[in-house]
Amino acid sequence: MPRFMMWCTHFITLVVPIVSAIEVTIPLTAPLGAAPLKGNLVSLSIEQDRWNEWAGTTEPNTFFNNVLDNFIQITNTPPFVRIGADSEDHTDFSHDVEYEEDIFPPSSTITPYPEATNITVGQGFYDIISHLPNGTQVHWGLNLREYNLTAAYLETVALMNAFSSPAVLEKHIDLKFIEVGNEADLYHKHKSRNGSWNVQEYVSEWEEFAYNVSITANLSKLSCTKLIGAAFAGSSHNNLSGFSPQAIFNLGILESPAGQLIETISQHHYSGSFCTGSGAALQDLMTKSYIRGNLSAFIPDIEATLVNGLKYILGETNSISCHGAPNVSNTAGAALWLLDYTLYATQVGISRLHFHEGIGYKYNLIQPVTLNYSILDGSPIAPLAPHVQPAYYAAIIVAEAIGSSGTTQAVEISIDENNVSGYAFFEHGSLSRAVFINTVAYFSGAGARNSTHIDFSFTGLGYPPNNTSVKTLKIGYASDTSNLTWGGQTYETSDGRVDGSLTVDVLPISSGVDLQETEAILVTFS
Ligand SMILES: *[C@@H]1O[C@H](CO)[C@@H](O)[C@H](O)[C@H]1NC(C)=O
Ligand SMILES: *[C@@H]1O[C@H](CO)[C@@H](O)[C@H](O)[C@H]1NC(C)=O
Ligand SMILES: *[C@@H]1O[C@H](CO)[C@@H](O)[C@H](O)[C@H]1NC(C)=O
Ligand SMILES: *[C@@H]1O[C@H](CO)[C@@H](O)[C@H](O)[C@H]1NC(C)=O
Ligand SMILES: *[C@@H]1O[C@H](CO)[C@@H](O)[C@H](O)[C@H]1NC(C)=O
Ligand SMILES: *[C@@H]1O[C@H](CO)[C@@H](O)[C@H](O)[C@H]1NC(C)=O
Ligand SMILES: *[C@@H]1O[C@H](CO)[C@@H](O)[C@H](O)[C@H]1NC(C)=O
Ligand SMILES: *[C@@H]1O[C@H](CO)[C@@H](O)[C@H](O)[C@H]1NC(C)=O
Ligand SMILES: *[C@@H]1O[C@H](CO)[C@@H](O)[C@H](O)[C@H]1NC(C)=O
Ligand SMILES: *[C@@H]1O[C@H](CO)[C@@H](O)[C@H](O)[C@H]1NC(C)=O
Ligand SMILES: *[C@@H]1O[C@H](CO)[C@@H](O)[C@H](O)[C@H]1NC(C)=O
Ligand SMILES: *[C@@H]1O[C@H](CO)[C@@H](O)[C@H](O)[C@H]1NC(C)=O
Repeated sequence: MPRFMMWCTHFITLVVPIVSAIEVTIPLTAPLGAAPLKGNLVSLSIEQDRWNEWAGTTEPNTFFNNVLDNFIQITNTPPFVRIGADSEDHTDFSHDVEYEEDIFPPSSTITPYPEATNITVGQGFYDIISHLPNGTQVHWGLNLREYNLTAAYLETVALMNAFSSPAVLEKHIDLKFIEVGNEADLYHKHKSRNGSWNVQEYVSEWEEFAYNVSITANLSKLSCTKLIGAAFAGSSHNNLSGFSPQAIFNLGILESPAGQLIETISQHHYSGSFCTGSGAALQDLMTKSYIRGNLSAFIPDIEATLVNGLKYILGETNSISCHGAPNVSNTAGAALWLLDYTLYATQVGISRLHFHEGIGYKYNLIQPVTLNYSILDGSPIAPLAPHVQPAYYAAIIVAEAIGSSGTTQAVEISIDENNVSGYAFFEHGSLSRAVFINTVAYFSGAGARNSTHIDFSFTGLGYPPNNTSVKTLKIGYASDTSNLTWGGQTYETSDGRVDGSLTVDVLPISSGVDLQETEAILVTFS
C-alpha cells in the first residue's frame, strides 16, 4: 500500500499544471499621454577599455555589425551606442598610440574579465567609430576623475577629428552627446577625491571641464552634439543633499555656459551588486514588484528633469553591477527581466536605456569576440566564438513591438497578478500589438509548468480585432544560458543573423492566449 500511495502522488504532481485565467482590457486607441517609443529604446553602453575589439581596428568586427544591423532590419534605427563608462575616467590620450593600450589587473573568480586600470588611446581609437552601421548615434565619455584638463582636451580634439572625417560623415554616424565624467558621485569612494567632495565641488569642476570641451568642440545650441548631465551611479532623489539631477539644477548648472548645452540627463542603475561576489536570486531579479520598485524610485528625478525641458535616460544600466551575477545575469530569466524592465521604464518617462556591455561580462546581450575563459568563474574553456546571450532576444522583442512606423506609443496593461505583466502598443494612434510576460522563474525539478490563460476585451473607439498572431519566446528553464527560440527562430548563430523558419500561432480573438511560466509573447492584432 505505501508504495502505491507514493506512485499515485508522484503521478498527480507530474501531469496537472495549474492554469489560471485573467481577462485584460486593452484600449483600441492610444490613451492620452501614452509613452512615445523610439526604435533605439534598447541601446548599448560599452566599457571603452576594449572598444577596439567591439569596433575592430584594421577592419570592422563583422559579428558586432550583424547583431546591430538586426535591429535596423526591424526598426529602421540602429541602437544608440555609448562608449566610455568607468574606463572613460582612466583614459589618457597619446599621439604615440595608434588605437588603445591597456594595463589589466589579473582575472579572478569574481571578476573574470576585469577592467583596465590604465588606458591610453590615440586618434585611431576614435576613428574606428566609422566601423559601426550607417546612421549610428553616439554618446562618448571623457575623463573628469583624473582632474587632468589636458587629457579631456586632447580626447575632445581627437573625438571631433574622428566625427568630421569623411568615412564617418558618409555613414551619417553622429556624435550626439559628450559626457564629462562617469559616476562622479563615487569619486570619493574610489579615492580620487578627498572627504570634502560633494555636489557643489562636482558642479564647479564639471562647469570648468565642460566649458573647455564645449569651446574646443565648437558646441552651441545649434550644433548636433550636446552634453550629457549627471551620469551618476546613484541619486539622493532630492535637491537638499547628495548627488541628483535636482541638486545640480538647484546649483544652477543649467544656467552655466556649458550647462546650457545639456540636453539629456543620464542616470545609471543596477538592481543589485556582485562587486563582492555575493550572489543574487534569479526570481528576485524577475519579480514584477521589484522591477517597478527599482525604476519608480527615479520618478522625482525624472519629473524634475522633464520640467526643465530635458530628456531622461538610463545611460548605463543592466541587471547586477560589477558585470553581473553568475547564473542570473547570463540566463534566459534575465531576458524576461530586461523585457519587463525596459517596457516599464517607458511608463515612468525614461526615453532610452543603454544596457552596459564589456568583453566577457556576464550580463552582456552580445559577446563580440572569442572568449577563452569562463564568464562565470574565469576557468579556462575551449574557445567560445562570438555569440549573443539570452538578453539579446529581449532586445529583439522590444524592437518588434516598436516596429518601424516611427509613431509607436505604449501603455502598461493593468493586470492584477504578481507574475504577469503586459503592455499595449499603438501605431498612428491605433492598437497594433501587445507583449505579455510571465515572470515566474521556472526551474528544472519544479514540477508541472503552470500557465496563465489571457482573454481580451477592448475599450474605446475603433473596430475590435478579429484575430491574434502570437509569437513566443520559448525557454526551457529560467536558468538556461542558450537554446532560446523566438517564433521558432534562433539568433545563436555563428554570424549573429537569425536562422530557422518563423512560426506564429494565428488564433481567433475569442480563444485568448496561453502564457507559460518563464515565457513572453508578442501578440499582433488584426
Ligand atoms: C594628463 O593627461 C595627459 C594626456 O592624456 C598625459 O599625457 C599626462 O601624463 C597627464 N598628466 C597627469 C599628471 O597624469
Ligand atoms: C596608471 O595610472 C596611475 C594613475 O593615473 C599612475 O599613477 C600609474 O603610474 C599608471 N601606471 C602605469 C604603469 O602607467
Ligand atoms: C582647454 O584646455 C587646454 C589644455 O589645458 C588648453 O590648451 C586650452 O587653451 C583650453 N581651452 C580653453 C578654451 O580654455
Ligand atoms: C547612409 O544612409 C543615408 C540615408 O540615411 C544614405 O544617404 C547614405 O548613402 C548611406 N551611406 C552609406 C555609406 O551607406
Ligand atoms: C580636498 O581637496 C580640495 C581640492 O579638490 C582642496 O581644496 C581641499 O583643501 C581638500 N581638503 C582636505 C581636507 O584635504
Ligand atoms: C562652429 O559652429 C558654428 C555653428 O554651429 C559654425 O557656423 C562654425 O563654422 C563652426 N566653427 C568651426 C571652427 O568649426
Ligand atoms: C527643492 O525640492 C522641493 C521638493 O521637491 C521643491 O518644493 C523646491 O521648490 C525645490 N527647490 C528648488 C530651488 O528647486
Ligand atoms: C530592486 O530589485 C532587486 C532584485 O533584483 C530587489 O532585491 C530590490 O529590493 C529592488 N528594489 C526595489 C526598491 O524594489
Ligand atoms: C552556475 O551554474 C553552473 C551550471 O549549473 C554550476 O556549475 C555553477 O556552480 C554555478 N555557479 C554559481 C556561482 O552558482
Ligand atoms: C503551480 O501552481 C501551484 C498552485 O499555485 C503551485 O503550488 C506550484 O508550485 C506551481 N508550480 C510551479 C512549477 O510554479
Ligand atoms: C473583423 O471582421 C469584420 C467582419 O468580417 C470586418 O468587418 C472587420 O473589419 C474586421 N476587423 C478588423 C480589425 O480587421
Ligand atoms: C541546445 O539544443 C541542442 C539541439 O536541440 C542540443 O543538442 C543542445 O544540447 C542544447 N544545449 C543546451 C545547453 O541545452
